[in-house]
Amino acid sequence: MKIVETVEKVREQVRSWHREGLSVGLVPTMGYLHEGHKSLIDRAVAENDRVVVSVFVNPMQFGPSEDLESYPRDMERDAALCEEARASLIFHPQPEEMYPEGFSSYVDMNTLTEGLCGKSRPIHFRGVCTVVAKLFHIAEPDRAYFGQKDAQQLAVIRHMVNDLSFGIEIVGCPIVREEDGLAKSSRNTYLNQDERNAALVLSRSLKKGRESVEGGEKSAAALAGRIRKEIQAEPLAKIDYVEVVDWNTLEPVEEIHKPVLVAIAVYIGKTRLIDNFIYE
Ligand code: PAJ
Repeated sequence: MKIVETVEKVREQVRSWHREGLSVGLVPTMGYLHEGHKSLIDRAVAENDRVVVSVFVNPMQFGPSEDLESYPRDMERDAALCEEARASLIFHPQPEEMYPEGFSSYVDMNTLTEGLCGKSRPIHFRGVCTVVAKLFHIAEPDRAYFGQKDAQQLAVIRHMVNDLSFGIEIVGCPIVREEDGLAKSSRNTYLNQDERNAALVLSRSLKKGRESVEGGEKSAAALAGRIRKEIQAEPLAKIDYVEVVDWNTLEPVEEIHKPVLVAIAVYIGKTRLIDNFIYE
């Protein structure tokens, strides 16, 4: 497995694979890889001849008061995980490689990005779309892999690929959880022991929510209320949002009768965590 830092070297490698008739899968990440990321890499390795993993903490998708500086990084461990998972190449650029001086072009979207995480992170999805569009042009993959953990991101990327005719298959992968239910996330490392326990309220509240939908609840407001009540019972938790939206448009629904995304963002102490389920 190679680790390269420049656009040129990725291009050279990927184009030579394509010339040989090999298919290429891409797994974009910000590193500090865990089993959630690994599930994407495993799927990509199973479905493609070669797999590129990008490891880049993308400054453009962090707001001014967010955790860009403190975001955890461990390239050595990430490389070992990728090697073990049989990825072929890691693309690990420096910010200057992705955004050289004078950089001024962006990919943005009028739909899908205003609600949910977009409300408290107004520039986030512009940063995500721009970096992912760049990664698609650089790695020229046949398929790219994204987790349902970031459900809005998955929907946004699918929409972008369709709007801009990227011709890349977007593969959505299920949420990988800790044994006790907490969705795996690089940001879980910010939690102290009390917060780690409190963080279980996310998966627990969604489980209750799912039970009430499966039990026949049709009102989105009642469902959201049930989830809110459960979260509010946890003293260390502060709700950013609890939303029930159409899984295709991400618009709020009143009645639950088509595929809906039930998504939450909750502060546990200073750490903002997200989780969701899709009811089809
Ligand atoms: P990052 O948070 O590192 O996540 C990389 C990919 O791993 C995303 O597609 C995310 O949904 C997926 N992932 C994270 N935790 C997961 C879990 N517990 N189960 C399943 N999949 C999981 O998302 C980003 O980076 C960035 O926004 C990026 C797309 C790389 C653009 O910078």
